[in-house]
Amino acid sequence: MNLRSLDRAPRAERYLVRADLNVPLQDGEVRDDTRIRASVRTIEHLRGQGSAVVVMSHLGRPKGQVQEGFSLAPVARRLSELLSTPVRFAPGLPTGSDARTEVLRLGPGEVLLLDNLRFDPRETEDDPGFAAELASFGEIFVQDAFGAVHRAHASTHAICAILPSYAGYLVQEEVLALDRLVDGSEKPLVLILGGAKISDKIEVIEHLATQAETVLVGGALANTFLHARGVPIGRSLSESGELDVARGLMRRFSDRFRLPSDVIVSRAMTEGGHAVNVEEVGSDEMILDIGPATRRIFREAILPARRLFWNGPLGLYERDPFAEGTLAVARAVADCKGYTVVGGGDSAAAIAASGLAENVSHVSTGGGASLEYLEGRTLPGIAGLLER
Ligand code: 3PG
Repeated sequence: MNLRSLDRAPRAERYLVRADLNVPLQDGEVRDDTRIRASVRTIEHLRGQGSAVVVMSHLGRPKGQVQEGFSLAPVARRLSELLSTPVRFAPGLPTGSDARTEVLRLGPGEVLLLDNLRFDPRETEDDPGFAAELASFGEIFVQDAFGAVHRAHASTHAICAILPSYAGYLVQEEVLALDRLVDGSEKPLVLILGGAKISDKIEVIEHLATQAETVLVGGALANTFLHARGVPIGRSLSESGELDVARGLMRRFSDRFRLPSDVIVSRAMTEGGHAVNVEEVGSDEMILDIGPATRRIFREAILPARRLFWNGPLGLYERDPFAEGTLAVARAVADCKGYTVVGGGDSAAAIAASGLAENVSHVSTGGGASLEYLEGRTLPGIAGLLER
């Protein structure tokens, strides 16, 4: 995809940068700063040329009002450390009077972070009036929020109709990596899909499974396929409304779909689990991870991949007794010598936890965004950046 690069943007006194600084917080501090780090390059570049930079982001889903616990203040502190310069911060409404005052005080090379865009309900409504208020804070818009480009919101979409808009370095890098994955011809192509919802994955399966030699399925997603196949899954999480969809996908791609042959089950998420053959799940048990035999089979399928995409945990990753399947897949992906792309969220966290992120060709900062990009659609936050 040919994007208008920031390198071709005219010089301006003040740039408005949309970043995705939606990071996990714990006790009022940033728990994982990956997305903040990934945003630094663009901001540094603009500061380096002597421009003022107004940065904006959402954080969580505060439902259109200023809410404690959703402020970007901890992110401003971390961004300051990473940039080694004070970052001004305007708490409260992102286009409120404090924010407007701070924008006017901003000098050359200075950085201001607005507070959570979703404190204003007009953000998620893609409201042109809100976009115009934001647009008044800069002369040029730079889209660097790859993790949010699948959202048609005022700061990702409506704003592109108002300001000259360019792709920041992170968005360019992500798009390049995902394009290389889909446009490549090296085989085998292996997809690993986990997580909970089949609805999130249908289109990516439809789009990529035709090209892929192998589709490894785990997580609650696999439960829905097992259920559709008539395998008893006890009390496991599955989407009973999607069984026909699952059957349809299995019919079309039966030659390449691989479901778990053994699983870790437990009667309660708070207890440990044990491995059983997938046909032997008790009526009072839940499937919470892939089993050891499946981990081996998946590893053997992963290692020879020449192109590979992974999205979604293979089990209840956030609970230690059920994290091993996801970690085993993370290790196998890191050991694969092909072109490997990991799409955000828990899969990216598992790769980081395995300490092998450097062995992966590209770890995306966008979970939902990378999936939707791979569905082959032009996403709302990217449409306004296309080179004509
Ligand atoms: C993400 O974490 O996937 C992005 O920041 C988008 O957040 P959202 O799903 O709340 O729109």
